[in-house]
Amino acid sequence: MASRVELTINGRKVTAAAKTTVLEAALANGIYIPHLCHHKDLVPSGVCRLCLVEVNGKWTAISCKTPVEQGFVVRTETPEIQAVRKVAVELLIADHQTNCLACGASTDCGLQRVARHVGVDQDRLRRLKRRAQPLPLDESNPFFTFDPNRCVLCGICVRTCEEIERVSAIDYTFRGPATKIAGFGDKARIESACESCGECIVRCPVGALTPKDALPPTHETRTVCTFCGCGCGMYLGARDGKLVRSRGDEASAASRGRLCVKGRFGYHFVNHPDRLKAPLVRKNGALVETTWDEALDLVAEKFGAHKGDAFAVIASAKCTTEENYLLQKFTRAVMGTNNIDHCARL
Ligand code: FES
Repeated sequence: MASRVELTINGRKVTAAAKTTVLEAALANGIYIPHLCHHKDLVPSGVCRLCLVEVNGKWTAISCKTPVEQGFVVRTETPEIQAVRKVAVELLIADHQTNCLACGASTDCGLQRVARHVGVDQDRLRRLKRRAQPLPLDESNPFFTFDPNRCVLCGICVRTCEEIERVSAIDYTFRGPATKIAGFGDKARIESACESCGECIVRCPVGALTPKDALPPTHETRTVCTFCGCGCGMYLGARDGKLVRSRGDEASAASRGRLCVKGRFGYHFVNHPDRLKAPLVRKNGALVETTWDEALDLVAEKFGAHKGDAFAVIASAKCTTEENYLLQKFTRAVMGTNNIDHCARL
């Protein structure tokens, strides 16, 4: 089987890797097909029905679930497809919270992108509106807010939780116009199995899932998370000399863009006023700040008095592999004991 196939999209000959979908082939060649529920990391679900295309002048297909075939002739904008898409988008927007200026996704919103492309009719939107009152926000999680009024039911969060995190904390609940994404029993998110990794927030195409302290950074630094020994790649974003955001590094071989709750939301300790910035020694029963020289002299003196099995070490996952290697070497060769363990095993 050839590794690439040739097809025609909107009269343009393009090539695409075999086994990719028509939507991926179009996007890779700079041809926009409206879509909301597609995400490159997830198995296609075909729930938004926006990526309809005509294939070979004969049938209509969901492009995110249709694999490319040699010689396909695809049209993305026939009058029939445009009409169906318009209704699908209007139904989504009719009950959608549209105060975009107050939305965290305002400058990068999948729904805005689709609506701009398809065009919407304000009179029809008013007629389609079904909800008289907005639904309550779920702010139970300390790190993020879920706003069901901005949710487009694309299911990307559900599939992220299931396919990537293997947690399945949330799913579609209720039926018809009452459908929403929720945890088991429609309880608050904090009562679900959610591990607060934030992977769903990263993939949400609209502003339904937003971090609670979402200040945009003015610059970012590529680094490695120090919370444990996994070595996940991350970008730390800063603003006015303080860390305001952490995001996964897609190029990291260790984590491929993913982070856990600690890596994504646990950076506040860096600027916390209680953080120790100088060594403390106990004097007259109280801990007082001192210089590194005095602290290290004191530790060296105490080491001398506790050689052998009177001494023990707990190594830290916050240290590098090299630092941990040196620590066990020091423990065994200098202090003369095998009493060494590591916090990752505890
Ligand atoms: Fe294909 Fe949603 S992107 S159905």
